[in-house]
Amino acid sequence: MNNFEFKNPTKIIFGKDSIKKLENEIPENAKILLLYGGGSIKKNGIYNQVKAALGNATVIEFGGIPANPEYAVLLEALEIIKTENINFLLAVGGGSVIDGTKFLSAAGLYEGLTPWDILADNIRTEKGLPFGTVLTLPATGSEMNSGAVITRAETKEKLSMGGPGLFPEFSILDPQVITSIPERQLANGLADAFTHVLEQYMTYPSGALLQDRFAESILQTIIEVAPKVLKDPTDYQAASNFMWSCTMALNGLIQKGVPTDWAVHAIGHELTALFGIDHARTLAVIAPSHYKYNFEAKKDKLAQYGERVWNITEGNTDDIAYLAIEKTVAFFHALGINTKLSDYTKDFEGTAETISQRFTDRGWLGLGEHQSLSPDKVEKIVKMAY
Ligand code: NZQ
Ligand code: ZN
Repeated sequence: MNNFEFKNPTKIIFGKDSIKKLENEIPENAKILLLYGGGSIKKNGIYNQVKAALGNATVIEFGGIPANPEYAVLLEALEIIKTENINFLLAVGGGSVIDGTKFLSAAGLYEGLTPWDILADNIRTEKGLPFGTVLTLPATGSEMNSGAVITRAETKEKLSMGGPGLFPEFSILDPQVITSIPERQLANGLADAFTHVLEQYMTYPSGALLQDRFAESILQTIIEVAPKVLKDPTDYQAASNFMWSCTMALNGLIQKGVPTDWAVHAIGHELTALFGIDHARTLAVIAPSHYKYNFEAKKDKLAQYGERVWNITEGNTDDIAYLAIEKTVAFFHALGINTKLSDYTKDFEGTAETISQRFTDRGWLGLGEHQSLSPDKVEKIVKMAY
């Protein structure tokens, strides 16, 4: 097991009807900017619950943060933060609203001239404006981690940021929110969380027995609840296990002491930036090719995953590892998620070269757990995913 440090300061308030507990979490003298997305919270009653819990607190609202939070829109919110002297941010939404809020938390205290530099120059945020979240969509884990991914339409870029100053103060997780989520987004959430675990697990054996079993148990739980969540989002038992699995998949715990990959996400983000494909679907496109291309380096963990998560008992290591990739593809398909780039766009020729060039330009010369995935290899993986 590798050495590690672990600190996660986010308070989780989990359970049925927990949104009303928001009233206990808002700091005194807070001047709040309530941030939300395209308006789903106004249709499903979450907005009303939040407003009721906020009582007489001073609140200004900013709606319209789009899926894949857009830099230009966030700059409008930043203006409000500055002119209104906002001192607390409240995100009510999924990963996009929460990530947008993290950007604003960092940008609100950033002293440089251009806030995009936080992303372009990978500036680590040690201290941001304090914020809390009310999660409306289980998927990203953003509610309990310190990372964010921001899109800039102007340049077709989607870049990550983070730092210890960007953990939410608190996150409210009421699994009942999933009843209004469209099936496509439920499937996205399941696939995203599943892939988060794979990114922190599908590397090479490192003797971290407990971390491996944490990861495997999250994968097994997602596989078990996925059909139930899709069939009946009012099934509270399934909803609560789904929601907690998504949070646990990316709150930092399972990656401690083990090598991590994250190449699937790095490549997938480019597909969202270039074609607007839903984040989770880009992962389902890239992961199978990535695991096939890096088969030799990953086959021990692939086989362990095949045996323990998919209960494959027949065959040698290579057979089990290969079948495990096939099982993963079948799982994405069962969620209704296609796994080839050509399923999403007819315009895919040249994509591999574009992504490889972008990685070269950014100096991303060695991704993955061995820092050995060079841009030419990335190009081959993307081509395999056409
Ligand atoms: O815009 P609203 O009205 O809120 O509608 C959203 C949006 O259209 C809707 N929705 C959310 N909750 C709902 C609901 N509709 C009905 N009922 C509800 N209760 O769902 C749509 C998608 O929302 P979005 O927030 O975009 O989805 P998700 O949570 O999957 O977030 C995706 C974003 O997170 C980033 C992705 O790259 C992407 O930009 N990620 C963030 C990570 C992190 N911070 O740790 C890690 C991830 O790997 C990921 O990269
Ligand atoms: Zn993800």
